[in-house]
Amino acid sequence: MKALGTLHLGFLGAGAIAEALIRGLTSTGVAKPEQIHVTNRGNHVRLAELQTRYGVNTYALATDAFAHVDVILICTKPRDVPTALAYIAPFAPRDALYVSIAAGIDIATIEGALSQSKSGYEEPRKRIVRAMPNTSSIVLCSATGYALNHACTPEDEAVVRTLLGAVGRAYPLEESLLNAVTGLSGSGPAYVYYLAEAMTQGGIDVGLDPHTATELVVETLFGAAQMLRERVAPPATLRKQVTSPNGTTMAGLAVLDAYSFTDAVRSAIKRATERSAELGDALSRETRES
Ligand SMILES: NC(=O)c1ccc[n+]([C@@H]2O[C@H](COP(=O)([O-])OP(=O)(O)OC[C@H]3O[C@@H](n4cnc5c(N)ncnc54)[C@H](OP(=O)(O)O)[C@@H]3O)[C@@H](O)[C@H]2O)c1
Repeated sequence: MKALGTLHLGFLGAGAIAEALIRGLTSTGVAKPEQIHVTNRGNHVRLAELQTRYGVNTYALATDAFAHVDVILICTKPRDVPTALAYIAPFAPRDALYVSIAAGIDIATIEGALSQSKSGYEEPRKRIVRAMPNTSSIVLCSATGYALNHACTPEDEAVVRTLLGAVGRAYPLEESLLNAVTGLSGSGPAYVYYLAEAMTQGGIDVGLDPHTATELVVETLFGAAQMLRERVAPPATLRKQVTSPNGTTMAGLAVLDAYSFTDAVRSAIKRATERSAELGDALSRETRES
């Protein structure tokens, strides 16, 4: 594997997550625009937009886009992965590293789809990474879990960590844990937005105007997240530090406890994890049968 500075990256899919990655890669200097090659299913306007905005190379055909790339990033919607993989399989570069961002599509399915050459002979085992970023990639603050297959090398791991690190923080895990990542950090931003909605409404209920309530909620969440990120103290310690006996926070937390707040959040993460497994199983079956 070449040094990261000279790698060429091919994007299969040019949507929201592809753009977040391109923005992260180019704005951090991890890759230069000329090292990035992007193709999609046929939306030429979108390709022109990315070319203008980031100076990347765009192509109508994946055969042209992937002619000289070292890494292919699979950035289509999960339901489009079977068709996209079937399309690129006959000419997929033999020695490229594949990084799939598609939620729920497992490594075995991608390996199976890519290992069939046009002639029908088994190809050497492909190096494949499955990653689960979250929507905060858009502001380069994703919490991403990723797993590598056994064909990947330590150099691949370094490349992937750098690539995914361009849109936030990335953590290597066993593939079996990626459903848990989906239930926790993949769906996690929505839990926080739901909390923000509820807190804003609570502020309006006690007399604040919507603008002021929104401002106070956003800054409160940001400040608390910053305290957690700087590891000022563990969350339970920070909570206890702001909970004076018989004070306002204690009164508020008692109401959350009465509504089984902790159980509700834990159950939400468990159910989202199960749902990720259900959707992944269905998608993988569909992909293998196509
Ligand atoms: N958005 C997130 O925050 C997030 C977080 C975690 C994981 N993901 C995963 O990221 C993937 C992409 O999500 P997204 O939100 O970026 O989707 P999106 O905005 O809908 O973009 C999908 C892209 O895939 C292209 N595409 C579809 N079929 C194709 C094919 N056969 N060959 C080449 N390109 C094809 C589309 O091209 P056309 O426009 O030409 O049809 C489009 O550029 C999904 O699998 C999702 O699970 C997203």
